[in-house]
Amino acid sequence: MTTTRENPSAAFLLGGDLPVARLGFGAMRLPAREIAGPANDPETSAAVLRRAVELGVNHIDTAWFYFHDGLSANGLIRRVLHPYPEDLVLAVKVGPVRHPDGSWGAPAGPRELVAGVHRTLRELGQDRLDLVYLRLHEHDEAVAERFGALAALREEGLIRHLGLSNTTTGQLASAQRIAPVAAVQNMYGLFHRRHPEVLDACTRQGIAFVPFFSLESLGRPEPAEPLARIAARNGASPEQVKLAWTLARSPVVLAIPGTSSVAHVEDNIAAAELLLEPEDLAALDAVST
Ligand SMILES: NC(=O)c1ccc[n+]([C@@H]2O[C@H](COP(=O)([O-])OP(=O)(O)OC[C@H]3O[C@@H](n4cnc5c(N)ncnc54)[C@H](OP(=O)(O)O)[C@@H]3O)[C@@H](O)[C@H]2O)c1
Repeated sequence: MTTTRENPSAAFLLGGDLPVARLGFGAMRLPAREIAGPANDPETSAAVLRRAVELGVNHIDTAWFYFHDGLSANGLIRRVLHPYPEDLVLAVKVGPVRHPDGSWGAPAGPRELVAGVHRTLRELGQDRLDLVYLRLHEHDEAVAERFGALAALREEGLIRHLGLSNTTTGQLASAQRIAPVAAVQNMYGLFHRRHPEVLDACTRQGIAFVPFFSLESLGRPEPAEPLARIAARNGASPEQVKLAWTLARSPVVLAIPGTSSVAHVEDNIAAAELLLEPEDLAALDAVST
């Protein structure tokens, strides 16, 4: 494992032409804190979003299927942020199919992907989407036909950059034979370092690697140490240390922590300024996962 001490508050050029702060925001928790829980208070979620942008976030991850009881992440983003700041990058996903009652369908085929892109354009009030990920479900799933459908929309000018989510290196290579891949969004965090070879491939190629669930331990108990000690020594929260460690894994990592709380969004964004010492990074690297 290699960790770097590159300044995490520096911007990254997404797709080679969109400068984004490395600490972004994941919008999945705006409609509801828990998928099976009650909907959030819309005004609190609006305040979270507003605060994120005030604090310099210009990369927001969202999807048309982030909705709960009539409250949708895209609807909130449009209501609170439109007309969008010029430097704001809205990254979206297509792939999952979700019914109006909240239940999930079979993964989208090419026609449903195209419909998902058009729905997202309408919901966000945009003529072109900055970054569209094909969200895969299985690690042995074929990507060519569906990624090809999105590449055709890119050719039409409806999409600026394409990405892949939940991908293996093999699926990434298949997609790259069809069109450039600007970003990969995979599950990755201090306590679950799945598919490090995908992160390494992104680092080698300068592709943005956007980890999701980087604050989570996926239901397993988290060891308190060395996180608590490193957090205390740096006057930081454990979540800030997790984010700083994730950003230090590679200069191509862009964090998108999700929250439904204004205090937590402030805490998370401040992690961009936390530069951990080499010995702290080494101790975190050694945490067993
Ligand atoms: N591609 C995919 O398949 C996929 C899957 C899932 C998610 N995503 C994307 O990834 C983003 C991140 O995932 P996520 O939101 O599920 O997980 P996450 O960012 O790892 O963690 C969110 C959890 O941590 C809590 N939290 C956040 N900041 C905190 C802080 N400073 N202190 C204490 N607790 C804090 C949140 O609760 P509070 O609300 O109480 O803060 C929430 O329970 C999502 O928003 C979404 O955009 C993508």
